[in-house]
Amino acid sequence: MGVTVRPAREDDAEAIAGVHVETWRHAYAGLLPQEVLDGLSRRRQTRRWRRAIRDPEAELGQVFVADGGGIAGFGSASRETGEITTLYVLPEAQRRGIGRSLFCRMVEFLDGPVSLWVLDGNPAAGFYTRLGGSPGERATVERWGMELGRTRYCWPAISGRSRSMNRSG
Ligand SMILES: CC(C)(COP(=O)(O)OP(=O)(O)OC[C@H]1O[C@@H](n2cnc3c(N)ncnc32)[C@H](O)[C@@H]1OP(=O)(O)O)[C@@H](O)C(=O)NCCC(=O)NCCS
Repeated sequence: MGVTVRPAREDDAEAIAGVHVETWRHAYAGLLPQEVLDGLSRRRQTRRWRRAIRDPEAELGQVFVADGGGIAGFGSASRETGEITTLYVLPEAQRRGIGRSLFCRMVEFLDGPVSLWVLDGNPAAGFYTRLGGSPGERATVERWGMELGRTRYCWPAISGRSRSMNRSG
């Protein structure tokens, strides 16, 4: 079945929370403390994502899902900051173009310069480079009692940009 990217609805919150927890545990093993990953709660994440979907003006911005008869991935983008605030694809659905589809939809939505933060050591940096992003500002944030390094990836505002990100791009 094909995968469609669309704005999230409130009744997607539980499925988004499931993707969030599973993808975090897979992607951040060894990068974030194991007790943080073990402590992720689908119930709490469902509440958090329901709030985010209800309020697209809040910090995370507009939420999008990749729906192929089930939610395979999701992302969120804030027009206020021009940032992609989240982007996650289920481990078993990765490398099939879903991350690119979500990314391109959010770039269209933001309609201007785009940036996002990537945690040091996250292989997703390779994906953002493949999509034409350039590493820029570096920063550390304190979370869970540790200092986490991260890098901002940036894309300038170029009209027709998301079209140029297709496979032949
Ligand atoms: C990063 C992520 C969103 C990419 O999604 P995806 O659906 O696997 O990516 P796609 O299949 O759309 O890949 C698009 C292109 O990027 C390439 N690519 C994907 N992941 C890559 C990686 N880790 N390193 C280098 N290239 C990568 C693909 O091979 C593809 O290349 P192509 O143009 O030659 O076909 C996904 O791997 C993910 O959810 N990772 C875990 C969570 C995470 O780290 N999210 C980002 C937080 S900042």
